[in-house]
Amino acid sequence: MQLLCAQNRCAFHAALLEWYAQNGRLGLQWRNLNNDTQRAYKVYVSEVMLQQTQVQVVVPYFERFIQRFESLQALANAREEDVLQLWQGLGYYTRARNLHKTAQMCGAALPQTINELMRLPGIGRYTAGAILCFGFLQPVCFVDANIRRVLARLFALPNPRARELEEKAQMLLNREDSFAHNQALLDIGALVCLPKNPACSSCPLLRFCKGASAWEHYPKPKRKTTEFKRIALAFVRRGDCIALTQSQARLYHGLYNLPEIPLQTAANLLCFGNFKHSYTRYRLDVQVVAHNGDGLMGDIVFVPIVQLDSIPLSSLCRKALNFVLPTTP
Ligand code: ADE
Ligand code: SF4
Repeated sequence: MQLLCAQNRCAFHAALLEWYAQNGRLGLQWRNLNNDTQRAYKVYVSEVMLQQTQVQVVVPYFERFIQRFESLQALANAREEDVLQLWQGLGYYTRARNLHKTAQMCGAALPQTINELMRLPGIGRYTAGAILCFGFLQPVCFVDANIRRVLARLFALPNPRARELEEKAQMLLNREDSFAHNQALLDIGALVCLPKNPACSSCPLLRFCKGASAWEHYPKPKRKTTEFKRIALAFVRRGDCIALTQSQARLYHGLYNLPEIPLQTAANLLCFGNFKHSYTRYRLDVQVVAHNGDGLMGDIVFVPIVQLDSIPLSSLCRKALNFVLPTTP
């Protein structure tokens, strides 16, 4: 069924909202902020967390974060170290630093236009749209990875361009209830129109969907590149302290790590163990070795072992310390 005429669009809206009322994830905290004066701020935090992390992982982090930083102003006043601390385990730490910077730039309140929002660090078109729709209740649409897949299939588009998808989203938008409409599209993408095996037979959008019978072509799958790397980390103990670096590498900027040493150096040292670690597109094979601390590169700080749980460690570092310390920091 073509989705272009107004009548079909109404039927589409009704089918989507009816499904959402019965099957949507209505209980998510960031969807229930009706009388909250910090709604836009909290929506913003949730959307940044959800950019690269799954919902069930985000839920407890979101709760802790907004409990600790109740308002944009409170976040602006916080120390970066404390923000990173609460982010520990979520990965992609640039998100946390950008959140903090944005709060400092805005102070009391977020702006309410797409252009102003997009000038803030870490806020792209998608996040700006989500803040306007879910935070400020404006009739605005946006396209994230889930909505992209749903739209590509609905309209049978193998290589949709961002512009084209935005036009489709705009054309489909339910201006009467854009909040529920967009949350529902996110849920269809996350619960029904799955990347590998979409449940078309139980999809409320099936009769409107042009691509259902050949969904695997929409959008056309991309090859992902994974990088395999071997690294060695030095475990240096002096009394009750161990050596850490505050990493300047882009990947881990601002978090503490065990110092990395050349593989050749590591080859001659006592090895505590090996483990595998995945981080963004990297697959690391990590070796932890005993080291006397001489000649290490970078800014080394010696941190008391008892303080390890109160500083932001990378998850790689925590895993490595598991090998060598009796209790997990
Ligand atoms: N992913 C991105 N935004 C989301 C939201 N508001 N609810 C659930 N998942 C999402
Ligand atoms: Fe996705 Fe299938 Fe629903 Fe189309 S019918 S939107 S392909 S789940």
